[in-house]
Formats: sequence, structure tokens, C-alpha cells
Amino acid sequence: KPQELFGKKRLNSKGWDLHNEDDLLDIENARQAFKTHHWSGGPLMIAKATGTENVSVKNPADPSDSVGTLTYANAEDVETALKNARAWQDCDQAERSRILRKAADLFEENFGEFFALLTREAGKVTADAIGELREAVDFLHYYADQAEALEESTPRGIFTCISPWNFPLAIFTGQISAGLSVGNGVLAKPAQTTSLCATVAVKLLHEAGVPKDVLQLLPGEGRVVGARLAAHANIDGVCFTGSMLTAQSINKSMAQDAPVSAPLIAETGGINAMIVDSTALPEQAIKDVIISAFQSAGQRCSALRILYVQKDIAAAFIEMLYGTMDELNLGDPWIFSTDIGPVIDRTAQDKINRYVQAAKSEGKLLKQLYCPTIGSFVAPAVIQVGGIGDMAEEIFGPILHVATFKACELDQIVDDINASGFGLTFGLHTRIDERVEKITSNLNVGNMYVNRNQIGAIVGSQPFGGEGLSGTGPKAGGPHYVKRFTIDENTTTHK
Ligand code: SER
Repeated sequence: KPQELFGKKRLNSKGWDLHNEDDLLDIENARQAFKTHHWSGGPLMIAKATGTENVSVKNPADPSDSVGTLTYANAEDVETALKNARAWQDCDQAERSRILRKAADLFEENFGEFFALLTREAGKVTADAIGELREAVDFLHYYADQAEALEESTPRGIFTCISPWNFPLAIFTGQISAGLSVGNGVLAKPAQTTSLCATVAVKLLHEAGVPKDVLQLLPGEGRVVGARLAAHANIDGVCFTGSMLTAQSINKSMAQDAPVSAPLIAETGGINAMIVDSTALPEQAIKDVIISAFQSAGQRCSALRILYVQKDIAAAFIEMLYGTMDELNLGDPWIFSTDIGPVIDRTAQDKINRYVQAAKSEGKLLKQLYCPTIGSFVAPAVIQVGGIGDMAEEIFGPILHVATFKACELDQIVDDINASGFGLTFGLHTRIDERVEKITSNLNVGNMYVNRNQIGAIVGSQPFGGEGLSGTGPKAGGPHYVKRFTIDENTTTHK
């Protein structure tokens, strides 16, 4: 009952059932007009932008598909946007929330364009595109509701929002709408690879009524735009989702150049584990491993990276896992039956493939599927490890590491996961209640999932965010989030 949990006034947004032919037809009809559409994206500022550097955006699944042209903001645009930025204090709370809800309606009305763009620019399969749009719409409503429910809400001023390519609509919208909901102005720097999606979203937010000097969009290079926006004396807070290393570097430059009162709200990555013991229901656990590790081509910060399987069942379980992997469809994400699309770009593809090659040369590659040779595809793979201690970094793709354990080693595994320093998601499959109790109370992670998959947190019912190296909190889509964007906030971070 999510709406009762956090005082929500409405249910989550409408979905489409991919097993229903009418729904498939609805999607196909709506996105067809955008199958060969060529988008133009770029800075959306109150003043005229002067940047002239254009980049051509290609479909990661098919480099011959030109998705659009993106103009980068230059250093001068960044300074102009900063100078013109203003908070949204002249608008009362009810009106701000109304405008955000109106934007949610516009997002839903334009679902065909978003689905096409999420697929062609970001390589999203249809199920992921649906999830993205729904999450964005949920964020708009949820933060509009949360802001209205606050007794006090004094905006901090101007927020810089730096968002990732793996959720180009959902996280992009979540950050912005949280900042706007309580009256901040926002300077948004979207990921370079997915800035067309951000352009369409901001145009709709402006159309809904967000003033153009309150929300400005600055696509461009990280070192020109992001670095400047993240550490400037006129910035009152930064909201960042992306890699842990970038979050650390933003933290450092904020300490040097931003006002000391400006908070950094960061969500980063994780080396997320799942434990499957010998009492788990194998069919259920396999399904959840596949979803957690391979959905979205493993490009979720919540994705499963290391699976611990109890020795007694390991051989049978892993054989069943391979059999299920063999059924996965890799290919063009536009096709409804595709399970796994490409990774975001050639750079990501090369990096992941180099990692898999290294594991192969050490004799640790247990299984690898085939994948298309054109486009940035990575073949899902399983790699053997002794435990999380063998994993130096988060590999952001469809790569699952597997380790086995004996029951007497469980406490040590929990200690090892905690010792990794990350703490984002964790999955547990068991039918022993005491084990659930013990493990979940001893692990330091943001989101734990028992006897289900460990991705796809739902706004309003599963606040999402990590601890330690995985993020600062408060959790996105939870009841403490918008308060952090105000000066009235009086909350501990990891909630
Ligand atoms: N919120 C996403 C999930 O739960 C990850 O960013 O999968």
C-alpha cells in the first residue's frame, strides 16, 4: 500500500502490459512517427546560447541510425546561465506543484516520442523505456505532493543537477523536480550521451509552466559545463548521480569553490551482492538473478554484480542459470521480443570487453553468450570469483560474478560485503526466517530485497539510495528527499 506508507495522494503512473496485444499496438502506433525522426538538442537558457559545437547522436544499437544533432553549451553559456539563474520563490507552493503535475501529464501524453528516443538514443528495450517514463512521472507527482505536505519549505537557491545516461529521463526528472518542487532554481547538466532526451523533457517542463530562467538546460562536456556548475560561488547545492569517482571529485571541488553551506546529494554505484542458499526456490531465484544482473544490459547502479550460491546446490543452480541465459534475446531494442539491448556506447563496450577478456585469459570466464557484431553490444557473461574481495571495481554491464559458499561462511560473507565500502542494493533468496533477520540487520546497504529481484525501486514505496561509497542519502523517491533541497531540512542523511 505505497500511498499509505508515505502519505501519497495517488497511485503510481499507468503502465503498459507487454503481454497484451492492444498495449503493444498502442506503443507501436505512438512511437512509429519517431522511428526515423531526427531530433535537435542543445542549451535551453533564458538568454541566447552561443555554443556552436555540434555533435551527431547515433543509435548505440545501430551506428547507421542518426538520432539527432546536439549543440553543446560553451563556457560563456555556463556563465550566462549562472548569471540569469533565479529561484522559483515568486510562485506559491500550490502553483509549483500544479505545474509539476501538468508536466507529468505532458510526459505521459508524449509517451510515443519518449519511448522512441529512449530506445534510439539510450538503447533501451521497451520494458525499460516504459519503466523510465513511469518513474519520471512518479517523481513529478511524488515530489509535488511531498513539497505540498511540508510545513515549511524555504528553497536553498540554485541547484546544479548532474544526471547519468543510464536513466536519462527518470533520474534527470527526479533530480530536477525535487529541486523545483520546493522553489529552487535548477541548472541541469545531462549526460553527454543522452542529452536529446533531456532536451525534450525540459521543453515539456517549460511548456507546463516552469519559467525559463528557473530551469535552464546546459548539455555539454563535463569539464566545460559540469565542473564549472558543480563548484561555483553562486550555487547553493549540487545533486549528482553517476560514478563514485566523479562524486568524490565534485566533493573536492565544492569544498574549494562552492559556499560551505551547499550540500552535495550524490547517488553513485555499488558492487551489489545476492545470496542464494540451499532453501531458495530455484526457479524463482534464477528468474531474479537474470533480471537483476542482465536487465538494462546490467547498466543500473542497483544491478546484481556478485552472486553467492550455496555449495550444495551450486552445480545444479548454475547449470539452470546458463540454460536460462541461453533463452535471452539480444539485439535491436526497438523489437518487442528483445530482452537485452546494447550498452551505451563504444567506449563502454570496449571497457567491459577488455575486462571479460582479462578474466578469460585467467581461466575465470565460465559462460558467455553471443551478441550482434554491429552496434555497442556486450555478450552477457558469467565470471568466477572467490568473493567480493576479488572485485576491485563496479563493472557497469551484463557481467555476473559467481562465488560459492558453505553455510558456516555466511557471517564472513556479510563482513566482506560491508568491507567493500559500497552499500547500495542486496538480494537474498532463502526460506529461513532467522537468516533473513540476521543478514538484513548486519548488512550496511541502502536497499535490500528478499526473495525477489533487486532492481527497479518504485517511487514512494521503495525509497532508493545507498550508504558509504554508494551515496550520501537521503533516498530518492522517499519522504526525506525534498527536505534536503530546503534550508529547513532537519533530517539525517541515509533515510
Ligand atoms: N532506481 C534504480 C533501480 O532501482 C536504479 O537507479 O533499479
